[in-house]
Amino acid sequence: MPVIVAEDADLVRGLAAALKRGGLPIAEVTFRTPASLAALRLLAADGDLLVGAGTVTRPDQVDLARDAGARFVVLPGFSARVVDRCRELGMPVVPGISTATDVISALDRDCELLKFFPAEASGGLEMIRALQGPFPQVRFIPTGGVNAVNAGAYLRLPSVAAVGGSWMVAPALLRDQDFASVSRLAEEAVRIAAEARP
Ligand code: 3PG
Repeated sequence: MPVIVAEDADLVRGLAAALKRGGLPIAEVTFRTPASLAALRLLAADGDLLVGAGTVTRPDQVDLARDAGARFVVLPGFSARVVDRCRELGMPVVPGISTATDVISALDRDCELLKFFPAEASGGLEMIRALQGPFPQVRFIPTGGVNAVNAGAYLRLPSVAAVGGSWMVAPALLRDQDFASVSRLAEEAVRIAAEARP
């Protein structure tokens, strides 16, 4: 899952095409900069790209995301208020967790697909293996410090549903409008996932 931090909405104009060329037609646009909402709206206008809102921490952002065309919502941590707003709007939601306590809060709200964030700083592969024991029903999306070097190891864990990261769409690549690299890195990520899950 390419994680996008848009410094300027104009910079993402070529991004949908680049991700599609790379065979990875999905993006999580983080609510982290003043340009995020405009960037989300721009990307979501391409119906062939599955666009979600990331770094959502408040219920009102779910409404903004939905109105801008987001088709799913990702949280960096657990918030019952945000999950409840997503449910009210029928919006698929992936809350973030980094502890067993967070996982229990998520399960209390019937969320079983969870973003493990920040993955590398929170114990990485070992932490996922440890959480798998008490929570066999949970599927994780590790994000935060995940890249082309360690993505395969995460994806080989049966409880990992996907990985996310900014490495394919790094702000410097957007700033340089280097969409050839975006496509190449997306293609490489697809290959890594296919090799990890033959
Ligand atoms: C996120 O919000 O998912 C992360 O900031 C992505 O982490 P990364 O930049 O380390 O890939």
